[in-house]
Amino acid sequence: MCGIFAIVTKEEQLLGPTLIEAGRRLSYRGYDTVGAATIPQAGEIDLRKDAGRVEEVAEHYNFAEMYGNRAILQLRWATFGAPSQPNSQPHLDSDGDMVGAHNGNVVNNVELRREFMAEGMTVRSENDGESCVHAVERYVDQGHDMVEAMRLASHDLEGDYAYVIGKVGEDRLYAIKKGSGLVAGITDDTVCIASDLPSVLPKTRNIVRLEDGEIITFWAGGYEIRKVEDGSLVERQPELVEESMEVAQKGGYAHFMLKEIHEQAQVAGELVHLLDSSPDVDPFLERLAGARNVYIVACGTSYHAGMLGSVYLGRLAGLPTIPGLAPQFRAQYGSPIGPEDVGIFISQSGETKDVLDAVGLAQARGMGVLGLVNVVGSALIRKSEYHIPLTCGYEISVPATKTFSNQVIALLYLSLRMGGHDTAVLRALPAWIEETIAGVEDQIPAVEERVTPWDDLYCLGYGLTYPIALEGALKFKEITYAHCEGMLSTEFKHGPLSAVTEGYPVIFVAGPEDVPLIISGINEVTCRGGRAIVIGEEDDRLRANAHDVIVIPRVDAPPALRPSIATLLSVIPLQLLSYESSLARDYDPDFPRNLSKTLTVD
Ligand code: AGP
Repeated sequence: MCGIFAIVTKEEQLLGPTLIEAGRRLSYRGYDTVGAATIPQAGEIDLRKDAGRVEEVAEHYNFAEMYGNRAILQLRWATFGAPSQPNSQPHLDSDGDMVGAHNGNVVNNVELRREFMAEGMTVRSENDGESCVHAVERYVDQGHDMVEAMRLASHDLEGDYAYVIGKVGEDRLYAIKKGSGLVAGITDDTVCIASDLPSVLPKTRNIVRLEDGEIITFWAGGYEIRKVEDGSLVERQPELVEESMEVAQKGGYAHFMLKEIHEQAQVAGELVHLLDSSPDVDPFLERLAGARNVYIVACGTSYHAGMLGSVYLGRLAGLPTIPGLAPQFRAQYGSPIGPEDVGIFISQSGETKDVLDAVGLAQARGMGVLGLVNVVGSALIRKSEYHIPLTCGYEISVPATKTFSNQVIALLYLSLRMGGHDTAVLRALPAWIEETIAGVEDQIPAVEERVTPWDDLYCLGYGLTYPIALEGALKFKEITYAHCEGMLSTEFKHGPLSAVTEGYPVIFVAGPEDVPLIISGINEVTCRGGRAIVIGEEDDRLRANAHDVIVIPRVDAPPALRPSIATLLSVIPLQLLSYESSLARDYDPDFPRNLSKTLTVD
């Protein structure tokens, strides 16, 4: 999703390198265009922007030479208007003495653009970020000061967004938060704001987190926050943020994705330690025990973790649980849910709008809400009645890997506790994850060669491994751009089997309990010329029937828990296989085309 960064310094200076660095740090969110502007005390705003990567656009337009003491940088992920130079942000107002950029969505953009043009303003793009600038311009032209103009403009701008704006002839910048993330970093002589912490932390650890419905005015060394509602002053001192930025580097790995796959053992260990002392766990479990219906709600990878959690809660705790994609949850269960129900809402970013909208509805109906969230300080944490942090640190790569594993582990822990099982078994997880990664890495290249030539394939699972198959297929789609469909293995014969031709790859994820069933599926594929690739524990039956077997270690867990743990490990070969196939196709797995890490739009 789009990212904004803006800075005000005491002295005029070369700001280009700071802007380029901030762009790099924001780039993990996903983007199509890049732009930067510096705003002088007198004279013309220096605006440079275009479609492309930070490095390309910055080099082509020589961002490095940008000079001044006020600047705005924006990375845009296209929603309103194609990813083109005019639609890139920041945007100027009509006479070019104001410039601004936003993150989020102004949903009445089309209507507003018509109004602005009818009022004689110069509209240069189709982008909703430009509407933020003109909405302020409208009231500045009527004689209001900037903060008052922004407050009035907020009545005109529908949607969830944050934007930053500045004017020639002043010494300050202004930013507003309504639904999208915004933090400020404060030092004695510099203030910067950004959509998230990674782009501010290199400047300072003195952080002010903005709330929805607030406007911050900031200048070299100072800031003032006011409520949009009535213009009243908000007192908020900076907090010292301890988080390390070291993790935001690749740490010797070729890609963040590979680094994050390898971090799974470590972050699993941290989570398992934390869960026993997490203050919200016991109160939440009490609420869960008395619930009428239990829902697990999320999107994308987080939804797959939630699906697996619903299987865990059913199998290990005897608790029927309804998994749902967040927008469908609203559409399907919006009216029946009530205070007797409980929902587990899962999100890596904690900012996914589809999920936040579902939480809003759940809370309006009095439902108990647990948030399983990775990003500290995110909206989902703030909104949740109970929350469990996923403790993964920053996940930079767009494809989620370590956060998926920790989401699953948190759900496994809750299921074990609800079912009266001993959770001590989870302490061995880091070692099993490490063993799995080390054991499968050498097995991947031979299989990668079989799948990469195909632009179409299937990934099948059953019971516990069904959500893993869906997650594996999503990883393939995201970073190899191949169409890989995840499916319940028993459904394959009901139609998709017709796709199988000579060599056509079908990946089966075999849980320890499901080998006989999977063998039937394998043979339905192989007897038609397809290539069966199996992920599972060492098993002669699988070796005898499949073309390729990627072996995961057999874990030494109590028999009732072994399938649940083996399932969690079986996602690792799929993460590595999709990663290697992405590289073989010459794609960047960290930043796949068209995708964004944080989806703050409908
Ligand atoms: C995962 O690889 C994807 N990037 C995507 O499906 C993601 O899981 C989804 O957008 C939900 O994001 P969230 O967990 O931050 O809410």
